[in-house]
Amino acid sequence: MLKIAIAKGRVAQKVSEILLDTSDYGSIINLKSRKLVFIDEDKEVVFFMAKPYDVPVYVGSGAADIGIVGKDVLMESESQAYEILDLKTCSCRMVLAGPLPKDNVRPIVRKIATKYPRISAEYFDSKSEAVEIIKLYGSIELAPLMGLSDAIVDIVESGKTLKENGLVVYEDICDITARVIVNRVSYKMKNKSINTFVSAIGTSVEGGGANAQSIVMG
Ligand code: PRP
Repeated sequence: MLKIAIAKGRVAQKVSEILLDTSDYGSIINLKSRKLVFIDEDKEVVFFMAKPYDVPVYVGSGAADIGIVGKDVLMESESQAYEILDLKTCSCRMVLAGPLPKDNVRPIVRKIATKYPRISAEYFDSKSEAVEIIKLYGSIELAPLMGLSDAIVDIVESGKTLKENGLVVYEDICDITARVIVNRVSYKMKNKSINTFVSAIGTSVEGGGANAQSIVMG
């Protein structure tokens, strides 16, 4: 059986739609149910829904052969798995944001609140700016509003949350999309079934799953 861990939430929603559109892999996944594991005996595939930060853990350990998760999670969790395909979906941006400055100039920031301490530390290191990073677990936009931080590092999708809370983007850090990752041992041992699955899901992406191998080897 090929074991595939999918990040719950936006990624799972989009991936199940892609699988239904591009293949018949997705027909057993029912995100409306509370079930976590979906087994397709015919295709010899097990899909399971995990918290995003747990996906690289399952794949890294080999408990899953394949994982599908956002690049933000991969960057933050130092995953050792092969990143085999960019699904180019669930797009958003990682940004530095904060209250609207009076003079339209990005203010000097000293305290940053974020769910992404590692990405934030790398970003400010690369700019040789010393900042204090405060790790939070959600609703990051609250931090500058409540005086906990000067700014935030967070993902922006529609921009609605920033706007409705009176915050603006100071700088773009990077683009984020959903990625397919593969356990290194599984990639050797289950190469054929992994490539079959990746090719199927890859047809949703310009260039298709045929890119997958060159990405790994490149
Ligand atoms: C994410 C992110 C922003 C929001 C951005 O939060 O941390 O708060 O989405 O989306 P938008 O640009 O479309 O408004 P999420 O919904 O994951 O919830 P959380 O704050 O509880 O982590």
